[in-house]
Amino acid sequence: MKTTIANVNQHLNETVTIGVWLHNKRSSGKIAFLQLRDGTGFIQGVVAKSAVSEEVFEQAKTITQESSLYITGTVVEDTRSPLGYELQVTDLEVIQEAEDYPITPKEHGTEFLMDHRHLWLRSKKQHAIMKVRNEIIRSTYEFFNNEGFVKVDPPILTGASAEGTTELFHTKYFDEDAYLSQSGQLYMEAAAMALGRVFSFGPTFRAEKSKTRRHLIEFWMIEPEMAFMDHEDSLKMQEEYVAFVVQSVLKNCKIELETLDRDTSKLENIQAPFPRITYDDAIQFLKDQGFNDIDWGDDFGAPHETAIAEAYDKPVFITHFPVEIKAFYMKPDPDNPNVALCADLIAPEGYGEIIGGSERIDDYELMAERYKEHDLDGPAYEWYLQLRKYGTVPHSGFGLGLERTVAWITGIEHIRETIPFPRLLNRLYP
Ligand code: 4AD
Ligand code: MG
Repeated sequence: MKTTIANVNQHLNETVTIGVWLHNKRSSGKIAFLQLRDGTGFIQGVVAKSAVSEEVFEQAKTITQESSLYITGTVVEDTRSPLGYELQVTDLEVIQEAEDYPITPKEHGTEFLMDHRHLWLRSKKQHAIMKVRNEIIRSTYEFFNNEGFVKVDPPILTGASAEGTTELFHTKYFDEDAYLSQSGQLYMEAAAMALGRVFSFGPTFRAEKSKTRRHLIEFWMIEPEMAFMDHEDSLKMQEEYVAFVVQSVLKNCKIELETLDRDTSKLENIQAPFPRITYDDAIQFLKDQGFNDIDWGDDFGAPHETAIAEAYDKPVFITHFPVEIKAFYMKPDPDNPNVALCADLIAPEGYGEIIGGSERIDDYELMAERYKEHDLDGPAYEWYLQLRKYGTVPHSGFGLGLERTVAWITGIEHIRETIPFPRLLNRLYP
């Protein structure tokens, strides 16, 4: 009976065959312990000399790391392993002997591992991170489907900038100039006017010359956009969404979080509502903490965000930033037009901003004014202005950076391990 490691629990005391790779092994005279993986999980195969043919025992003792094989054995309970089961091997058939697998169980440097990313993904830790990433994506679709959102796919090749012109990837679209999308937001606003509540999930590109543990050049963003929803409604949606994702990972990725040594007590209390602090109060808070390098009108750097986050044990919204340091489309606060109806959501434990969002300008005249101030003209922007002309409505939206969210939930240090093939300042391969 062919099965997978994830499904062995359905075959207790039965004999099964699984296609696997040899992750690691140790052996003594009469017994070999094979650490096997098949993508769905990890299991130990116990090969007792007395239980198999001489030839099979010899193969079990000499088989090399990352060799591929079909393994046959009886599924038995093993309370010591995270999976809860092991395999008492009766037979094995080698598919291919792997020679000199470069990533050995010893420690390797980061650059070496990054050069071998195509193989590094097979390691236990990387496997766990990718599984958590997948659960975040899965639960995102579940959440927004439950809330009546429609998934909409904005284009990647665009004629305009959504988030400022300094970080654009330029390319040619036949004879025209084009850019890789920094954000699908402008298109999602059009989609919200057609479908009400929409969300996108796709790659975005920032030609940012930052080399930090939080920045990727290519990253994936989830961008919901909601008609008839104001800033306050949007914050509620954001905290419900983030809490749902965290609780889903806690429920469905127990083995992975254990593999990653994640302190799950810090994730358990991630429940709505989240605390909020205004930009003004955040500046005052930082000054009181002894930060002399920040004044009203400045944007926060990583140390500022970390200091603010440390005051809370949940993600915290920083709201009402000065209009000048935020994007052109954000709606000014009617009670104080110097600040915008916007918020950044800062993750706990120093992981920085995971969401940026706002209510959008819905007034045609005000948006036309912003166009002048920001020199936005031509057909690339004309359509976006028209959304304010034909049945404009209050609307809000936000963008969650998937990789920063993965880094926070898995508790890993650097964003480069949160995406299968990271695009970094100095890395386009593999
Ligand atoms: O704050 P940002 O730039 O917001 C937008 O792009 C809006 N248009 C979203 C919207 O309202 N629809 O980016 C949103 C999030 C950030 O909070 C961060 O999590 C992530 O995207 N992000 C990055 N992640 C990795 N590497 C980078 N270089 C990132 N830049 C932004
Ligand atoms: Mg932002």
